[in-house]
Amino acid sequence: MTDTLDISITRAEETRLTVTDFSLLPFGKVFTDHMFTADFEDGEWKNFQILPYGPIPTSPAISALHYGQAIFEGMKAYRLPDGRISVFRADKNLDRFNKSAVRMAMPTIPEEIFMQGLATLLKIDEKWVPAQENYSLYIRPVMYATDPYLGVRASDTYKFALLTTPTGPYYSNALKVKIEDQYTRADDGGVGYAKTAGNYARSLYPFAEAQKEGFDQLIWTDAAAHEYIEEAGTANLLFVIDGKLVTPSIRSTVLDGVTRDTIITLAREQGVEVEERRVSVKEIIEGIQNGRVTEAFAAGTAATVTHIGQIGYRGELYQLSDPATRSVSNGIAKTLNDIRYGLSEDSHGWNWII
Ligand code: COI
Repeated sequence: MTDTLDISITRAEETRLTVTDFSLLPFGKVFTDHMFTADFEDGEWKNFQILPYGPIPTSPAISALHYGQAIFEGMKAYRLPDGRISVFRADKNLDRFNKSAVRMAMPTIPEEIFMQGLATLLKIDEKWVPAQENYSLYIRPVMYATDPYLGVRASDTYKFALLTTPTGPYYSNALKVKIEDQYTRADDGGVGYAKTAGNYARSLYPFAEAQKEGFDQLIWTDAAAHEYIEEAGTANLLFVIDGKLVTPSIRSTVLDGVTRDTIITLAREQGVEVEERRVSVKEIIEGIQNGRVTEAFAAGTAATVTHIGQIGYRGELYQLSDPATRSVSNGIAKTLNDIRYGLSEDSHGWNWII
């Protein structure tokens, strides 16, 4: 891609790199020195800027705050063995960002703004991409409605920003998850497939309740009958059942995960049979009891591949196999990481070298 965007660059007076402890990187708390921003005004994107990372002054009347027009994405940049930086499947994240935008009545972001904004930011904050094993630079694109207007309608103006934060895996251990059968994350015809703020907001109370019971995460089920497994909110879900990789099919209530898509592509290439279909709670619970469900994991950009160790359902706890013994998910996680970190051939062209 040729650089066509006129980006104004204001550099931070000092870098925070020297005071950042890279051995202590909680997810999403430490931001790099700069951010990229753009504004949608008068029907077009303008004001392309790299700025020192920091507050963006705004009116308390903006519609994002009142009516929830806000969307985001999650991607990662990796340090390759030769020191270069690679972003994994940025095109797919842009595609999903724009699907979210359409559903939320927001403007889409043209590819050159997203990609050139990101490339410029990453080149400037290049030293922030960690080199430790399993670490990466998490990239958070976000767009929110900025009309200071309390009438209910789609905003005319928006802010787009790219934030970057060095991080390790979102989850550090195998998860104890609860199958949620009271609250719901998404309904048919709603916005479940969009990465919009409200989907996360509505999950917070049920999640906090589950945490009080000792769970790390929820497994959401369908709104109609709580009969089918959908996703985990922070990640998609995959199971190994009778040796096959089985994952809930993408529907209007389930986010079309980029990591999920990558995993099923790699699994098929390795000869693992993959089924994308409805997965009932009954099938999983009975499958754990009779040994047919041998592995379960969450997959997402932040979560990467995180084993599920225990599943709680209606007051009972079901124990899965020792994560160290899980050949399918451990094998796929290694193949995936080797591609992302440039340790094996990227035959799909998923790595975008900056
Ligand atoms: C991601 O995996 O990038 C996500 O957006 C999940 C996040 C809410 C932790």
